[in-house]
Amino acid sequence: MFYEEDKKYILNTYKRIPIEFAYGDGGYLFTYSDEKYLDFFSGIAVNQLGHNNEGIKNAIKEQLNKYLHLSNYFIQEPVVKLAKLLVENSFASKVFFTNSGAESNEGALKLAVKWGRNININKTSIVSALNGFHGRTTGSLALTGQPEKQKPFQSILPKVNHFIYNDIDSLREIVNENTCCVFLETIQGEGGVVDISEEFLNALIDLKNRYNFLIIVDDIQAGLFRTTELFSYMKYKNFIPDILTTAKAIGGGLPLGAILVSEKLENVFVPGDHGTTFGGNPVACAAGVYLLQTLTNEDFIDKSKSIAKYLYKNLLKLKEKYPIIKGIKGRGYMLGLEVGNFANTIKDMALERKMLLNVTNNTVVRLLPRVNSTKEEIDEFLSKFEDILNKISYLKTIEE
Ligand SMILES: Cc1ncc(COP(=O)(O)O)c(C=O)c1O
Repeated sequence: MFYEEDKKYILNTYKRIPIEFAYGDGGYLFTYSDEKYLDFFSGIAVNQLGHNNEGIKNAIKEQLNKYLHLSNYFIQEPVVKLAKLLVENSFASKVFFTNSGAESNEGALKLAVKWGRNININKTSIVSALNGFHGRTTGSLALTGQPEKQKPFQSILPKVNHFIYNDIDSLREIVNENTCCVFLETIQGEGGVVDISEEFLNALIDLKNRYNFLIIVDDIQAGLFRTTELFSYMKYKNFIPDILTTAKAIGGGLPLGAILVSEKLENVFVPGDHGTTFGGNPVACAAGVYLLQTLTNEDFIDKSKSIAKYLYKNLLKLKEKYPIIKGIKGRGYMLGLEVGNFANTIKDMALERKMLLNVTNNTVVRLLPRVNSTKEEIDEFLSKFEDILNKISYLKTIEE
């Protein structure tokens, strides 16, 4: 349909998947010729409640009939309501709304640097993890510890020191009294779905107590119930971040992000320090209110957790049966299957079977189904996935 024109008019920055979808419904996407694809991609952790969700659509429609935009100089009902929900359901005491993940991280960086400078003019050193991912704008690209992504733009990136994720010694080497913040994901998404180790987290907390820096959790991918916790840090009972950045799912599919800050940081920014025209768009916030109300509903939580357990239990069975799966990483609806060189083959074979998966860090098949997946959708995935594993195992035996 639009393949040629897409190529002709749009900058070549994405490796497009050569399928064109006309619409979506629940856990499925449909092509123009009504071919049905199971969506375990979810717009990379955006479509938390699947496609065409009535509640999200109604919230959007209701706000559309009121106003689309006012300006952040005005108080707006859906913006206040979403901020209240975020505060009531997290460590945060206040929120700043943005348009995207990268923008949330940029704002968090500015806040941390200003906080540090207020203590000591040199307390502006920023630290983040190698193999992390924090976005593509200059500040967030500097945080993204992936030298190959940074190299062509190095001259415009602010200085950030990187440690090896889950390596306590490498963190110890680079933090000191001039560190203003340590920025990290509690599950590295693009880095291959890697969970932070409790040992590492405890060491980070000890170092924070010693050097008084901020811990900033980028929960842009892992947040909003992806892991079956509202925010992924909530798994760790002895840990709360100073700042948490979110985006992706928070606008119910519309562009929105947020910076959640703890009480001690409430007054670091003063009017004029930071701002945005569209950040906290009222239509996106209205969708976010519906999303948050759903994700904090007890019945929803119970059902969603039980389906996630069902998926995990069956993946473990597949792992036992098929040694191609070397490991299962992640939690809830953010899972990574370590499959070595087979990752891209599996992704392609899934596409042939009308199922959308994604590969991260070259060797990991990433599963990001909607968090309100049905048992039928999970069963369809498991059966198609087993068929793929079967075929690969068979081909492997012939080759050997
Ligand atoms: C953990 C994490 N941080 C930040 C970003 C950047 O978000 P955005 O693409 O909305 O700028 C992403 C995007 O994939 C992400 O996964």
